[in-house]
Amino acid sequence: MIILGIESSCDETAAAIVQDGRHLLSNVIVSQIDIHSEYGGVVPEIAARSHIEAINPVIHKALTDANLGWDDIDAIAVTYAPGLVGSLLVGTLAARALALLKNKPLYPIHHVEAHVYANFITEQSAQEGSPALLLPSKQPEFPMLALIVSGGHSQLVLFKDHGDYELLGQTQDDAVGEAFDKVAKILGLPYPGGPSIATAALRGDASKYRLPKAKLDNPYNFSFSGLKTAVLRAVQAEVGVDYTFPSHELAARLTDTQRDDFAASFQNIAVETLVDKAERAFKDFDPRSVVIAGGVAANQELRRQLSARLPLPIEYAPMQLCTDNAAMIAALGYFYAQKHQPSSPFELEVIPSLSMTKTAWA
Ligand code: KG4
Ligand code: ZN
Repeated sequence: MIILGIESSCDETAAAIVQDGRHLLSNVIVSQIDIHSEYGGVVPEIAARSHIEAINPVIHKALTDANLGWDDIDAIAVTYAPGLVGSLLVGTLAARALALLKNKPLYPIHHVEAHVYANFITEQSAQEGSPALLLPSKQPEFPMLALIVSGGHSQLVLFKDHGDYELLGQTQDDAVGEAFDKVAKILGLPYPGGPSIATAALRGDASKYRLPKAKLDNPYNFSFSGLKTAVLRAVQAEVGVDYTFPSHELAARLTDTQRDDFAASFQNIAVETLVDKAERAFKDFDPRSVVIAGGVAANQELRRQLSARLPLPIEYAPMQLCTDNAAMIAALGYFYAQKHQPSSPFELEVIPSLSMTKTAWA
C-alpha cells in the first residue's frame, strides 16, 4: 500500500510517499525556519500563508521524486491534530481536495503519535539529489516504550500494539523542546533553540553550573519550567545583576565561554531528567524496544546518555525524520488504515489541541 503523507501543523510544509509503513519513496520538506527566526519564534499568520504558497509544489515534488503518478497512490494521510489552526487547515484542505479529485481514501493522523512512527521507516529507495538516510535495521517490537520529546510535548508512552497505548507520564508545564528554545533566548543563541544549544554545548563544560532536577510525585512525569528559571537566575548571578534585571538584556553580558558552559550544563540536566524517567519506566515495564521521537530526539547527547543507561541496543531514526516531516505521517497512515475506515473528504476537521491519549485506537 503506497501512501502520500501531508504535514503542515507548524512551520514545515511537507509531503512524503511511504510504502507499507516502512519503505520511504520520497520525502520533501520546506522549512520556514529562516522566515520565523527573524521573530525568534513561529508567527502563526506568516506560517499559514507560507504553507499556502508551498503546499502544491511540495506535494508535486513528492510524486516526481518518487517517480510516481496519482494512479500509483493508494491513499492520502494528513495531519489533522494538534497544531496551529491556520497551518493545519492548509494541509487538510489540500488533502481533502485531492482525495475527492483523485478518488483516494483519506486518513486523519495525529502529529505526535506520528512522530513515534518515524522509527518504523527502515528502507529507502535511492534517489538522485537526496542523501541516503541512516535507517534502523528493523521495526521496533511491542511492547515498545516511547519517549516523545518535541517543542509541544514531553511524554512517556507504553505501546502494547499499533494504536494501543498508555500514557505513563507527561510534562506538568513546559515541553522539553520549549525549554531548549527559551533557554536559548536567555543565552542569546539563535532560533530554533534546540540545535543551537546542542552546538554551543559541544564547546562547553557541562559540570560548570549546578542546576536542579525537578522532583515529582509520579515518577514518569516531567517538569521543565523550574529548570528554565534556574538557568535565568544562574545567568543573572553570573553576570552580577539581581532577579529584576530584564532577561533579554542578559545575553549581551555573557562571554562566549559562559554561554557555552550554560548551554552544556542546561542540556546535560535536561537530558539526564529525560533519561532518568525513561530508565525508571524501562525497569518497571520491561519493554522489548525503546524509541525516542519528536524534534528533541535529534539531540545527540540524549542518544548518547540513553544508550549508555539502558541495557538494550537502541536504533535511532535519522535526524531528518525526528523533526517535523510527512514520512512519519505516511508511515502511521499505513498502520492506521489497517484498522480504520477512511474519513469523508467532506467532513474531516482539524483539532488544534487534541491530546494523544484521546486517539488511542484500542
Ligand atoms: O517535533 P518538532 O520538529 O516540532 C514539534 O512538533 O514541536 O520539534 C521542535 C523542537 C524545538 O523545540 C527544537 O528546539 C527542538 O525540537 N530540537 C532540538 C534539536 N533539534 C530540534 N532540541 C534539542 N536538540 C536538538 N538537536
Ligand atoms: Zn512535531
